[in-house]
Amino acid sequence: MSIASATRWEQRVLRAAHPIAFPLLSAIRSPVRRIPGLGVLVKDADLLRATLLDTEGFTKNGPGAPSDLWTPVLGPSVLLNMEGAEHAALRRKLGPLFAPAFVDALVAESLGAATRDLADALARGERVDLVAHSRRGASAVIARLVGLDERVIDDELFARVSRVTGFVTLARPRLTPRQLGIARGILAELGEHARRAYAGDESTVPGRMRALGLDEREALGAVGAFVLTGTETIVSYVPRLAAILIDSGWLPRLAASPEQVDAAVAEGLRVTTPSPMMLRSVVQPRTIGGVAVRPGERILLGTYWANRALGEFDPATNPAAQLKQLWFGAGSHFCLGAPLAMAQIRLTLDALLGTPTLRVVSRRPSRGVLIPSYASLVVERS
Ligand code: HEM
Repeated sequence: MSIASATRWEQRVLRAAHPIAFPLLSAIRSPVRRIPGLGVLVKDADLLRATLLDTEGFTKNGPGAPSDLWTPVLGPSVLLNMEGAEHAALRRKLGPLFAPAFVDALVAESLGAATRDLADALARGERVDLVAHSRRGASAVIARLVGLDERVIDDELFARVSRVTGFVTLARPRLTPRQLGIARGILAELGEHARRAYAGDESTVPGRMRALGLDEREALGAVGAFVLTGTETIVSYVPRLAAILIDSGWLPRLAASPEQVDAAVAEGLRVTTPSPMMLRSVVQPRTIGGVAVRPGERILLGTYWANRALGEFDPATNPAAQLKQLWFGAGSHFCLGAPLAMAQIRLTLDALLGTPTLRVVSRRPSRGVLIPSYASLVVERS
């Protein structure tokens, strides 16, 4: 068990997801570099943050930006393809859904029983696949956000969502007509559930959105954004954090010093950066780290590399503390679901800390996926 072994496994996870792009982008040493056919890559944390905060110069709604991918699937008003006053107004309306009291209740209702089962199974010495557990958990949370009936929640929901994001690659900023048809079908089906829930009472999240003053189009757009952003990131992170804590020997250390848990979660987010890259389109001529960029160019914000530049996983010195949660973005598009993500992460981590002598029985990184992850991670008490 060592930090080096944790790092080796992490690299295998990244390489399995992006066998060409990961080594290619990792080999680039300069903080800013124009890559023909792809865009301008930024790998420095300060330059990256400055780009995210400069909303006059850069947008999510232009050539090569996320709008090229998601507007044809979900329409023009899904947060992650909006800018300016309309975007800010929608985020403000959604704010109460991510307030601590609402988030804690949502997570307890959707994950409480399953997490207790996980803790009990580990304590009894059973083998558990943490990826399967995380997929069920993320599906349960997303089902609540969409307003799905508890009975239709299963792994299938996760599989359908990841089919949509699986269409995205760095080299192809738009979906093909066939992919677009499949993606629209999957999201339209979820949208139908959300529409029904919106029309109903406040016991569902879409119903609550109506009470908060969102019109139907805004509510369905928000639901679409939650589905796309809030499922795979969590299913990526929770097992990777568990693997890092086990591989590095930090799990028993944390159980003995719980005051370091926050630092461990932040460090895990820094070294994994589940959403490894953000995209922007240039609106105004700008210079990033000495490289002039022109309107219409695509900017590849390599958050993963910027975060990793601060070194290996180390909750004791906690380099993550200086990054202001860059793994959740910065500025106007900062991850809206961050409180929800943190509540989900903490709940599962607490269950793992109940049996700190875990070992990895077997594991398999996912191949060819957008969000690097394990396809399975089986653990048991050693
Ligand atoms: C560890 C888990 C997660 C990570 C690392 C993560 C990361 C991010 C990042 C980096 C962004 C900003 C993208 C950009 O500026 O281009 C973002 C935006 C967003 N995230 Fe998360 N996310 C996570 C979990 C979640 C969850 C659970 C939800 C649940 C609903 C969620 C909802 C959103 C939404 C709605 C946005 C768009 C906000 C906007 O454009 O205004 N995220 N996330």
